[in-house]
Amino acid sequence: LLVDASEASGRPISDTLFGIFFEEINHAGAGGLWAELVSNRGFEAGGPNVPSNIDPWSIIGTESSLIVSTDRSSFFDRNKVALRMEVLCDSQGANSCPDDGVGIYNPGFWGMNIEKGKNYSVVLYVRSSGSINVSVSLTGSDGLQKLAAASIIASGSEVSNWTKFKVMLDAQGTNPNSRLQLTTTRKGFIWFDQVSVMPLDTYKGHGFRKDLAEILEDLKPQFMRFPGGTFVEGEWLRNAFRWKETIGPWEERPGHFADVWMYWTDDGLGYFEFLQLAEDLGTLPIWVFNNGISRNDEVDTSSVLPFVQEALDGLEFARGNPNSTWGSLRAAMGHPEPFDLRYVAIGNEDCEKKNYRGNYLKFYSAIKCTYPDIKIISNCDGSSQKLDHPADLFDFHFYADDAKNMFSMAHHFDHTSRSGPKAFVSEYAVTTGSLLAALGEAGFLIGLEKNCDVVEMASYAPLFANDNGRNYWMQSLFNESSGATVFNATLQTNSSTNQVEQLLASAISWKNSENENSYLRIKIVNFGTDAVNLKIVVDGLELNSINLSESTKTVLTSNNPMDGNSFNDPKKVIPNRIPLEKAGKDGEDVEVAILPYSLTSID
Ligand code: AHR
Repeated sequence: LLVDASEASGRPISDTLFGIFFEEINHAGAGGLWAELVSNRGFEAGGPNVPSNIDPWSIIGTESSLIVSTDRSSFFDRNKVALRMEVLCDSQGANSCPDDGVGIYNPGFWGMNIEKGKNYSVVLYVRSSGSINVSVSLTGSDGLQKLAAASIIASGSEVSNWTKFKVMLDAQGTNPNSRLQLTTTRKGFIWFDQVSVMPLDTYKGHGFRKDLAEILEDLKPQFMRFPGGTFVEGEWLRNAFRWKETIGPWEERPGHFADVWMYWTDDGLGYFEFLQLAEDLGTLPIWVFNNGISRNDEVDTSSVLPFVQEALDGLEFARGNPNSTWGSLRAAMGHPEPFDLRYVAIGNEDCEKKNYRGNYLKFYSAIKCTYPDIKIISNCDGSSQKLDHPADLFDFHFYADDAKNMFSMAHHFDHTSRSGPKAFVSEYAVTTGSLLAALGEAGFLIGLEKNCDVVEMASYAPLFANDNGRNYWMQSLFNESSGATVFNATLQTNSSTNQVEQLLASAISWKNSENENSYLRIKIVNFGTDAVNLKIVVDGLELNSINLSESTKTVLTSNNPMDGNSFNDPKKVIPNRIPLEKAGKDGEDVEVAILPYSLTSID
């Protein structure tokens, strides 16, 4: 491997090359990164008509002790459904309630993970025909293991109208399969609405699960594209993500059924929270908005202006002065300073749609007129032919069901015109995760580094899945690439085998802002079945300034290329860092053994 590390060969990689794409898919937000533990907290998931399904809420009690239904008596105008309980049993007498009372429980998203010593904030709205004594408890999945409990006691006059209650629960035990119970032994009518359980300790205090958010932070993402994906489009426009429905007090948000991924979201994780998360991760937000097009219906260009206005209002919400109409709402939500929103994407995967270009141009000119600095991303692929409309970046998505196809995409951008807008590879993945998949993706990423003059950004999709960590560790070896310098790195062989075709390599250098030291990282993907002995020749650097004895080699590999990580075995395929075995003396070439099916990073 010949690395030309001279100044002449160095080319700057975009500061924003690697980031993340957060889509509400696979319960990435609802039941995932967003720390809310109650699923269907406003009883709206069953639809606006009553009686409605209250799933996953369930009843504690029997037909003779309790009747549970829904009505449209909520205090909140945009989510009218509330839960009504008619308690037939009483604290004493012939029809006395069971000792633990009757009521309802919510198992959250596949069980709430309640942890000993942690505090949970429970908020709920209650109304009643008389005085109330409601036990609010966190229990095991059978209701028997009591983890934390508190009582809400109020007179009839205090709760004759909807009243907000807040209790803190301090967990005395741990159970990953817990539930929230609301029970009573008092006869009468009682209504519940907007029931929330949040752990007190969230990422930077803004409602995100700390463990997951910190894993994202460790990836050092330079941008965060959100909130979709197809989630932005919807199967039908009526179910698309519309930002205005997702801001303001959480209790007032209507929530919506994400018909593409077939689940309900309360939109507790809304437009504001996405912007806040990007800020907390120290990354640039990239907002994808609906352009009047869903998977199955479209608004004609002649009628798209309300959508254009909605996008402009969204920009004012994010960036406007705190005294502006929409900026004041942001300020009221606790963020008077504007968010650093510099990029928007007009729709998602809509280039082939009938009205895309017409609608796009309306958005483009309106946004450029008010916010000339905002970079606009088109859905149309400019990697093989020039775009027929103005854009700052074009979106490029690539999914492969075979790792080999992903690996061979390493050269895709070699032939892209250098004069048009740059590429934002906002979604790429081998669809089934394994080491082999990660190596295919690593090869593709090396291709993006080498094409840094036409590729400005890239993000894997989808970011979260319910199970099986996919290629997080592979991506961590690209953490330093954004803003680095890439050098020419050429693989040469005398051998007649095609081993070299199975190898891809790149060389980058960057300066660590803390210690001011410069680093050189050479990454090699071996996508083949054979080990390769590689001699690395670095030209053009002052070698005596390289500390070879402190060089390390990090290898991501496994016995079987189809191995992957899982909750049962989360560290089956992780990078292993060791000193470079044949560091040699300063100025000498380095020889390394590259294992079959591996990603090796030499720092
Ligand atoms: O990543 C999953 C989906 O794949 C995205 O929502 C969409 O943009 C793509 O088709």
